[in-house]
Amino acid sequence: MFDMRGETVSYDTQNNALVIIDQTELPNKCVQLSLKTREEIYNAIKLLKLRGAPCIGVSAAIALSVLANNSEARTKEEFLKEFDFNCEYLISSRPTAVNLSWAVNEMKNTLLLCKGKSLDTIKKALQDKALSIHSDDILRCKRIGVCGAELLKNCKAVLTHCNAGRLACVKYGTALAPVYVSYEQGNRLKVYVDETRPLLQGARLTAFELASAGVDTTVICDNMASYVMKNGLVDAVIVGADSIALNGDTANKIGTSGLSVLARYYNIPFYVCAPFSTFNKNALTGGDIVIEMRDESEVSEMWYSKRMTPEAVGALNPAFDITDASLISCFITEKGVIRPEDIKNLI
Ligand code: MRU
Repeated sequence: MFDMRGETVSYDTQNNALVIIDQTELPNKCVQLSLKTREEIYNAIKLLKLRGAPCIGVSAAIALSVLANNSEARTKEEFLKEFDFNCEYLISSRPTAVNLSWAVNEMKNTLLLCKGKSLDTIKKALQDKALSIHSDDILRCKRIGVCGAELLKNCKAVLTHCNAGRLACVKYGTALAPVYVSYEQGNRLKVYVDETRPLLQGARLTAFELASAGVDTTVICDNMASYVMKNGLVDAVIVGADSIALNGDTANKIGTSGLSVLARYYNIPFYVCAPFSTFNKNALTGGDIVIEMRDESEVSEMWYSKRMTPEAVGALNPAFDITDASLISCFITEKGVIRPEDIKNLI
């Protein structure tokens, strides 16, 4: 088995494969998958075997390098055509996480810089870029952790939603990085984790990774958030992001927007943690962000031994919602704390 050194996603350059932990099997089984073909990688993203905006971006970069190394194209023209096809195909796997198109564009730019070079040189440059996007994600998350721990230093407990931890990145995570750094600094925060219907990323993944790291963790049903806030059980809400518009409106897992409204009502700070690769230059406001709609069966059937809702009713399943910039206290990034109104000047 490939040694992933505690990472969620790795590049096995010896066997030319994208190696991931299959998150659909967690927390019951820890299954490593070695992915080599474009269909395998597309399906892994689509079916959430790998998920979380930064993790999807890093995986796409590695995937493009793996596919380039495997290419049987004999001419540069054929190779470029195949590369472009792979880019579009991977981007179509999930529409909301902007880190996916960000990483694909980084790979495209790398290729553009190789104009006039041999195919071998191009493949090597793509591999180096994928490896640097991978290691860069670790550094960015660590910096988010240090910056966020400073903000949380007087907090005793926080509430988080979905999974924006190490399982959503390469290591550390975004929203959970400040929790890990707080622990390193001796602040043993308690973390309340929304179960996060319908796919239970909170109950399955966040609870798993926090418990494995020895963090004091309590899972709540999504409809208990108001209870924990009203009763003073949490001092802050801390979440990740899939796409941040230029005005600060933020797409994150469905249910995040409701939490931000509650947090404002109860006067609790609402922090969004994200690397700069999550800022979306093409979205002026949240209205420009495409929200992924997923299969109804994730609401009505998944996790139940028998269908849970009556056959006659439909189910709405938007995977994300938009939190208004006005409800976000600040963004915690690898470059420090940013106010929503400052974003357009910084990216
Ligand atoms: O559908 P998912 O599980 O990919 O959604 C993940 C989230 O909403 C995360 O909060 C977001 O990607 C940030 S991950 C650091």
